[in-house]
Amino acid sequence: MNLLIIGSGGREHAIADCLRRDAPDATIHAAPGNPGMRGTAELVDIPAGDIHALVEFSVEHRVDLTVVGPETPLAAGIVDRFREAGLPVFGPDRAGARLEASKAFAKRLMRERGVPTADHETFDDPEAALDYVSGHDEPLVVKASGLAAGKGAIACESRAEARTAIREMMIGGRFGEAGARVVIEEFMRGVELSVFFVADGERAVPLLTSRDYKRVGDGDRGLNTGGMGAYAPAAPSGPAFIERVRRTIAQPVLEAMSEAGAPYRGFLYAGLMLTEEGPRVVEFNCRMGDPETQVVLPLTRSNLLEPMLRVAHDDSLRGWHPEAATGAALVTVMASAGYPEGSDSGRPIKIPAFDPEKVKVFHAGTAIRGDRLVTAGGRVLGVAGFGTTLEEAARRSRKAVEHIRFEGAHSRADIGWHELEPARLPAGERALIASPGDPRP
Ligand code: AMP
Ligand code: GLY
Repeated sequence: MNLLIIGSGGREHAIADCLRRDAPDATIHAAPGNPGMRGTAELVDIPAGDIHALVEFSVEHRVDLTVVGPETPLAAGIVDRFREAGLPVFGPDRAGARLEASKAFAKRLMRERGVPTADHETFDDPEAALDYVSGHDEPLVVKASGLAAGKGAIACESRAEARTAIREMMIGGRFGEAGARVVIEEFMRGVELSVFFVADGERAVPLLTSRDYKRVGDGDRGLNTGGMGAYAPAAPSGPAFIERVRRTIAQPVLEAMSEAGAPYRGFLYAGLMLTEEGPRVVEFNCRMGDPETQVVLPLTRSNLLEPMLRVAHDDSLRGWHPEAATGAALVTVMASAGYPEGSDSGRPIKIPAFDPEKVKVFHAGTAIRGDRLVTAGGRVLGVAGFGTTLEEAARRSRKAVEHIRFEGAHSRADIGWHELEPARLPAGERALIASPGDPRP
């Protein structure tokens, strides 16, 4: 069997490991992949954005399944092009990817279907947006409608801040085209949670819950990043809660897409805010989260290749129920100096050998120079620890980080604090995640 993974981050490294486990004899290609995947996959020197070359490669190598990791090629219609060429591919088509690529589209769909989310309005005209803010309660959130690498949402304490954000996006060109249209929404208070589904066009099947940490610094301070760490399973994760999210959030979206003639197939990422009123959607993504994949997939015991093949062939997921391993996983991201504002690269990296049962180092921003492993900017490594408890997983991840070296490395030491140090959470928020079952059935 020939498999192809598109992308080069920690998420794709974790997907490669998962496919290798499910298909020990397959030839796995990764385009472009990263140095950490060597040994698991053959690296193909084609960038994730070169759809034409990827189709050609897949035809030539008779690829049986392509899994697309990142959102950019999905939003550009890579799945449509693979399907036109008769190539089995796992991921949403361009129409489905709008759930992430256009917040305006996603918000409209949620409003139509009664999916709980923040109240919002969408604007193409800066004057209308500025006017609207004058009558809006504080705090509020201003978001670029298009793709902005996870950095396009600005939480504003005051109307004045919101006005500045609107001007920067709509007039100043911050985030380029993505910010020409903005969504202005109510600020939701609560605790975030990521829930991923595998979708076959009709049915959404949930994977383990996870929680990621977007701010660069300990104590959730500093700038937003693509994610500095994550853990799984994350509370609440009980069956009643998951069923509520599936029924009130994922299913209505799949129904709407299907009725519009664009059945959604692939991973669906529901970024949730747990609030007093129950779970509400912060955003949808059309792919797995990164770094969350690095903790969710290692804990997913069931074969994932088989359901991916089913979806790629337009078959149903009926009867497929993924089984989760017991225990916990926690990943700490090691980023390069200056991230997320700047980028520093070319620093030699030293990684000692770890017991693979306890620690796994996923590569993200690494490269080979000569015969040395060096940094390639941004998030460099995801250091995942596994254990029977979250405490153990955290200890293993944090200890491993101390033994990995590259100049300028920085990481958070408090990933998982919501459950490791619950005293830090205000009582109201603790109540939102305290129960492993459904707090409000
Ligand atoms: P997004 O780009 O929509 O994923 O937003 C990035 C981050 O901004 C989220 O993970 C939240 O932490 C925060 N955020 C976005 N929208 C809201 C909202 N309506 N209320 C509170 N926080 C939000
Ligand atoms: N970790 C957040 C994301 O992948 O969008």
